[in-house]
Amino acid sequence: MCGIVGYVGKKEAQDVLVGGLRRLEYRGYDSAGIATLDDNDEAHLARSVGKISELSSVLEKAPQTGHLGIGHTRWATHGGVTETNAHPHHAGDIYLVHNGIIENYKELKAELKDYDFASDTDTEVLAALIDSNYKDGVSLKDAVAKSLKRIRGTYGIAVFSPKEPGTIVVARLGSPLIIGLGHGETLIASDASALLGYTREAIYLNDGELAVCTKDGAEVFSLDLKHLDSKPETIEGNVEQIQKSGYDHFLLKEIMEQATTLHNTLSGRINPKLGKMHLGGPNLTEKEMRDINHVVIVGCGTAYYAGLLASYFMEQLVPDLTTEVVIASEYRYRSFHLPKNSVALIVSQSGETADTLACLREIKKRGIKTLGIVNAVGSTIAREVDGGTYVHAGPEISVASTKAFTAQVVAMLMFGGMLAEYHGGDPKLIAEYTRELSILPEEIEKTLNTHRETMEQLAKKYAKYDDALYLGRDTAYPIALEGALKLKEISYIHAEGYASGELKHGPIALIDDRFFEVFTILDNWLFDKACGGLHEVRARGGKTIILTNSKADIEADDIVRIDSPIKLLAPILLNTLQQLLAYYIAIERGNDVDQPRNLAKSVTVE
Ligand code: G6P
Repeated sequence: MCGIVGYVGKKEAQDVLVGGLRRLEYRGYDSAGIATLDDNDEAHLARSVGKISELSSVLEKAPQTGHLGIGHTRWATHGGVTETNAHPHHAGDIYLVHNGIIENYKELKAELKDYDFASDTDTEVLAALIDSNYKDGVSLKDAVAKSLKRIRGTYGIAVFSPKEPGTIVVARLGSPLIIGLGHGETLIASDASALLGYTREAIYLNDGELAVCTKDGAEVFSLDLKHLDSKPETIEGNVEQIQKSGYDHFLLKEIMEQATTLHNTLSGRINPKLGKMHLGGPNLTEKEMRDINHVVIVGCGTAYYAGLLASYFMEQLVPDLTTEVVIASEYRYRSFHLPKNSVALIVSQSGETADTLACLREIKKRGIKTLGIVNAVGSTIAREVDGGTYVHAGPEISVASTKAFTAQVVAMLMFGGMLAEYHGGDPKLIAEYTRELSILPEEIEKTLNTHRETMEQLAKKYAKYDDALYLGRDTAYPIALEGALKLKEISYIHAEGYASGELKHGPIALIDDRFFEVFTILDNWLFDKACGGLHEVRARGGKTIILTNSKADIEADDIVRIDSPIKLLAPILLNTLQQLLAYYIAIERGNDVDQPRNLAKSVTVE
C-alpha cells in the first residue's frame, strides 16, 4: 500500500528514485511522483496519475537534476486519484511523502489557517503542520518531531527542505521505513526490495523513531529527540528475485518457481529418514510445547486460507489440539478470550498488514505467545512476535499471492508436525507427512509442467463466463476458497468458494449456464461425498471442471488428473493448477495480472 523511496548521495536522484519506485509499484499504482533538490538548492516536483511509466514520460520531457530527492507511488486512501492528490506534497519549505493515515487531519487542517490546501489529502496537512513548526531557527528534525507528536494515526514519512540541503528526515509509526547505508550515499525505502543492488546494510526504523539521513549515514532519535543506538542489519535477497527472469509476468514466474522456493522453506527443517520435522524459530521450551492445547491462526486474504488448510493438517497430527482460524479484521475488535496455554500463529506474507498486526498486539496484551509465519524478513510483524518462522518464499511481487500460500501452509504444517511429537501424535502419520513434504517440491514442479498447457487451453474455454463456483470438501475446502479468491482478484469474474456439502444449502440456486464450477476432489475416504452435487450442477446447465488426484471415473465437462504419490498434501498440488487457471483466464481477458485494479499487495491501513 503505497511505496516510499528517498535518496541522498552522488548519483542523479531522479534515476535512483524512479528505479526504486518501479520496484515498489506493486504496492500501489494509482499515481506517483518525485521531488528533488538541485545543486542550487531549488526544489522540483513532478507528479502524475497512473503508473510509474506515466511519471517517467513526464520526467523525460522535463528532467530533474540534483542528488537528493524523495518519491512515492500511491494507492489512494484520502481523496481521489488525481495529480494534485499524488505525493510528494509541498507546503512552504516542506516536501513530504507519506504512507499511512493521519486520523486527526481535519482538526489540524482547521488550525492551519495560513495555508491554502490544494489537495484532499491528509498528507498535505502534515506537510503544512511541519512547515508551521519549521520557523525561527528550528531544525527540520525538531520541526518534524514536534509535529509528529500531534499526529493520531499511522505514518512512514520522508521529508526534505531546500533550507537544509543534503538532509532527509524520516520517521515511522505503523508503516515501514528502511534506511539503506551505501558508500557516500543513503537510500530510503518502505520496502527492502527497493534497496537491493545498492546496499546490503540497512537500519530498520522502529515505531516512534525518527532519523536524520545524509549521504554519510543516518542518526536515529526518539520523538523526544533522545539519541538512539541503531544497529545496521543485513538485507536478504538479490536483484534476480525481483526480476521477471524471462516470464511475461511476475505472477507466472512466482507460480512456476514454487518448487525452488519450497526447497528454501523446507531446507534444514525436515528429516525424512527419521520421519521428523523441526523448526528452530518458535523459541518454545519443551514444557511450553507440551502445554500448548490451543492454536489460534490469524491472517487476511490468502494468508487466512493458508491458515485454514494448515489447521486441518494440525488437527490430524496433534491428537489433543484445538485449532481456531480467524480473519484479522474481525478478530481485532472481538472480545476474544484465549485459553492460557494457547499459542497464536500470525500469518502474513508482507509482515505489514495492518489488521494482522493489530491482532498480534491484541493477543500479546492477553499474555499469549505469538509466533510469526512471515515471508518478508525484517518486517514489522516479524519483529514484534515472540518467535516464529520465516517461510523463505523470496520476494513476492505480483499482487495475488501464490508461492507465499504454499510456503505458509508448509511452514505451519511443520509446526504441527513438531507439536505432534510432544503430544503423542502418531509417529507413522508424522513420518508420512514428512515423507510427502520431502517430495513435494519435485511433485509441484511435475504438476505445473505437465498441466500448464491444459490449464491454458481450459482458460480459453472458460474466460467468457460471468460467474464461477469453487467447491471442495475436507482439505480441498480451503483450496476452493483460495481458488475463488485467485480468480476474482485477477480475472474480475465473480467467484465464490464453498464447502461442497453446503451446495444444497444455497449456492445451487445460483447455477445456470453462465456459471462454471471448479470441483477439487481428493482421492480419499470422502471421495463419494465430494462428488455429491456434481450431477445436480450439471443438470442445471453449469459447466464443471474437476481437479483431482483420483483415477476413478467422474462425469464432468473437463477433468484434470494429477498422477502423484502425494496423498495428504494433494490439495497443495491441486491448488497450483487453480493458480494457473486464474492466471491464464486473466490473460485471456486482457487484464493486468500483476497489478489488478483496486488491489494492493500490502494493506498497511485499515
Ligand atoms: C492483500 C493481498 C493478498 C494477501 C493479503 C494479506 O489483500 O492482495 O494477496 O493475501 O493482503 O497479506 P499478507 O501480506 O498479510 O499476507
